Amino acid sequence: MSHQPQRILVTGGAGFIGSNFVHFWRQSYPGSRVLVLDALTYAGNRASLRAAESDPDFRFVHGDIRDYDLVSSLLRQERIDTLIHFAAESHVDRSIHGPDEFLDTNIIGTHVLLKAAKAVWLDDGPCPHRFHHVSTDEVYGTLTPDAPPFSEGHRYAPNSPYAASKAASDHLVRAYHETYGLEVTTSNCSNNYGPYQFPEKLIPLVIGNILDGRPLPIYGDGLQIRDWLYVDDHNRGIDLVLRQGRPGETYNIGGNNEWTNIEIVRLICRLVDEKFAGSDFGGKAMRKRFPRAPQCSGAKAESLITHVKDRLGHDRRYAVNAGRISAEVGYAPLESFETGIRKTLDWYLANEEWWRSVMDGSYRKWVELNYA
Ligand code: NAD
Ligand code: TYD
Repeated sequence: MSHQPQRILVTGGAGFIGSNFVHFWRQSYPGSRVLVLDALTYAGNRASLRAAESDPDFRFVHGDIRDYDLVSSLLRQERIDTLIHFAAESHVDRSIHGPDEFLDTNIIGTHVLLKAAKAVWLDDGPCPHRFHHVSTDEVYGTLTPDAPPFSEGHRYAPNSPYAASKAASDHLVRAYHETYGLEVTTSNCSNNYGPYQFPEKLIPLVIGNILDGRPLPIYGDGLQIRDWLYVDDHNRGIDLVLRQGRPGETYNIGGNNEWTNIEIVRLICRLVDEKFAGSDFGGKAMRKRFPRAPQCSGAKAESLITHVKDRLGHDRRYAVNAGRISAEVGYAPLESFETGIRKTLDWYLANEEWWRSVMDGSYRKWVELNYA
């Protein structure tokens, strides 16, 4: 059963994956109506949507997904037929320090969206629609080193408050399909990386810290394993599921690309060292721009690696079996890790203003309060 999205609402479209989704969508389907609803929390940045703002087919709405009246009126007024739900509190470390916001946004917020979608798309008179819920592989918990990757039937066993709140929202999405017939799909994706990722997450944090000569904090032994996927590959997967996925179904999305944290950090260190040594961004220019980087005093980036106390409840390994999405809708990632990580580093080097400005705000204050 295929679906043809015409007028989409993207919740959390000023965040990392949501803003990349908006750019991907506008390039893929020029002329289609794109509405973003975002509360602009510390993780949301309108600057990430700058390229879309002057397009008359694009509209940004500053608002909260928990506002039922706002959400239902947007669905009606804008005749939205497809909702892609990215908005969430998304950082595991923050969920450990303060879980309440995670429950409010991720569980209650998702439920408000479902209620509004049901009211407008089913109760007002059935009309073609799709509700896509963007979720995470973290709902499955952790894997032992030799266990097979998570498939869709894997038992839910979330270990952090973040993962538990996402798991609860997945169940609500499923229930609205089973109970009311709302046409929903869910994707559970592995760790994303790419442009516009807030520098609290491992890859952009490491890039920024090297350039500013700050320690690279490795939680515990650094041998935890994650499966990394370039953000556009995630968004292509969502697009395929929206159009060709089966309502009520869930799809795992992953990169078949498992790395330990310490390997990732060492790789980024090597790539940044090359930038300081090489000519493509100009080693001399790099030294002028980033005088606190260790390379400026003859040291390597790896000298900044610092093992710190492990994260509470830290999952040891995630890995995703993307067999269903590839068999049913023909999904395969396009970006190799080698090319994706280089692209990402180049993006952060070319967009220093973006990451410095997002870090000037409440994130810094939060870090100071919690990690002083
Ligand atoms: P993010 O933290 O970068 O962005 C979240 C966005 O949601 C921000 O723009 C924020 O302002 C907005 N938001 C938060 N609360 C809101 C509210 N109450 N109302 C409206 N907007 C609100 O997150 P991300 O990394 O882009 O993740 C997007 C989605 O993808 C999340 O649902 C996350 O669980 C899921 N996911 C992320 C990853 C990853 O590696 N980042 C992997 C798999 C799944
Ligand atoms: P993160 O980017 O926070 O994503 P997630 O917790 O959703 O997987 O972290 C990725 C991995 O890197 C995770 O195992 C925790 C680890 N990590 C560190 O070792 N140091 C850090 O400073 C951060 C932010 C993460």
